[in-house]
Amino acid sequence: MSATPSRQSKPGRGPVIAVDGPAASGKGTIAAALAVHFGLPHMDTGLLYRSVALTLWRWGGDPGNPFEAVRACSEMGISPEDPELRSEAVSRIASAISAYPVVRAALLDRQREFAALPGGAVLDGRDIGTVIAPGADLKLFVTAAPEVRARRRLKELEGRGMNATLAEVLADIKARDARDVERSAAPLDQAGDAIVLDTSAMDREAAIAEAIRIAGEKLGRP
Ligand code: DC
Repeated sequence: MSATPSRQSKPGRGPVIAVDGPAASGKGTIAAALAVHFGLPHMDTGLLYRSVALTLWRWGGDPGNPFEAVRACSEMGISPEDPELRSEAVSRIASAISAYPVVRAALLDRQREFAALPGGAVLDGRDIGTVIAPGADLKLFVTAAPEVRARRRLKELEGRGMNATLAEVLADIKARDARDVERSAAPLDQAGDAIVLDTSAMDREAAIAEAIRIAGEKLGRP
């Protein structure tokens, strides 16, 4: 059995932080805060899958066809600020197309290249610690109870003026969890050496403070 070498052992290279977890766990917020705190670039890899989904949707393409989805990977020109990236329709299509191995393969290089930036990087997603950056210096698996995540997502939707019930949002979160965990290509999975951060009983500030504390200790940087 050979251990994956830590990138920290390479002198002069910045740390790589992998943040994985289910939908609405707070992983994106935590990853962004870690990036600011440690002065590292941040990639939200969910946005890549969302951009493919939105490209396909705007074409009127079929999310059930992996080959149409993979064509969208090479032709996407979506601004990361596009508000439609966060819509429920796009979330659903992103969840479907992210199960296709051809789509995951098409998006692999740009994620690995980002993770290999010499100054270090923070990436968040579902398979960062397991597939994209298995040698990351810190792997955080951010999670929270489905009911807590559903309440957070509902608040976010209401803040955007959208109507939904807690039961609908909870059902959607559970369905998305099942798709993310059960797909055969790079499923949502906790790396063996990941540190679990359960944010169920934490507000935003407490979760960020705890992540920074864990990272500081693991990376040997305050
Ligand atoms: O994190 P998010 O909700 O923005 O992700 C959108 C979808 O993309 C989600 O259904 C899972 C998928 N995804 C993935 O399969 N692998 C990643 N590294 C990131 C996201």
